[in-house]
Amino acid sequence: MKFFIDTADVDAIRELHDLGMVDGVTTNPSLILKSGRNILEVTKEICSFVKGPVSAEVVALKAEDMIAEGRKLAAIAPNIAVKVPLTWDGLKTCKVLSGEGFMVNVTLCFSANQALIAAKAGATFISPFIGRLDDINLDGLDLIGDIRTIYDNYDFKTQILAASIRTANHVKDCALIGADVVTAPPAVIKALASHVLTDKGLDQFTADWAKTGQKIL
Ligand code: G3P
Repeated sequence: MKFFIDTADVDAIRELHDLGMVDGVTTNPSLILKSGRNILEVTKEICSFVKGPVSAEVVALKAEDMIAEGRKLAAIAPNIAVKVPLTWDGLKTCKVLSGEGFMVNVTLCFSANQALIAAKAGATFISPFIGRLDDINLDGLDLIGDIRTIYDNYDFKTQILAASIRTANHVKDCALIGADVVTAPPAVIKALASHVLTDKGLDQFTADWAKTGQKIL
């Protein structure tokens, strides 16, 4: 399973990139706002060291304008995936841009039928939002499972990019279901390494080592 990092914080991406944890990056207008950076500048900086897909999202609502924005974003670097919302205009944009050879990430997916129609429109990635479904007492992971089944039934090549990941358990469950990619905030990726018994065990080893009076270096 690939790890994308869901942030426009360049320092946070670099830290995980240096550990080999970054297969790609996703951004959205809210994450650009949080970064305080210009979208074109920060996306270009991310693409200067991340070689995998970097999603940059259009903000227009009409297909004609989305297509123009998508072409401008795609011109930043060859590894840009143009992110479009799962609306009818977004699907039109997906069809045009994917036909021109660009990667397209269709976002704000909350149903299996939306994922099906995005695949038909030629999406490279579909982004179902797990956490936001959980927020309204639906099961985001059920959606990932349904999309996996549908895509496998018909051999769709669209990759399932599980988004709105809030917890380490979301990552594990997506891996078990067979999501192609998870995009998670840096803090969630770091949390994957944590276990209370690891901390407890290390405390014990450190205390016992001190009692030996030995040194390795
Ligand atoms: O990739 C989409 C993601 O950024 C949304 O996450 O936590 O705002 O629902 P969240």
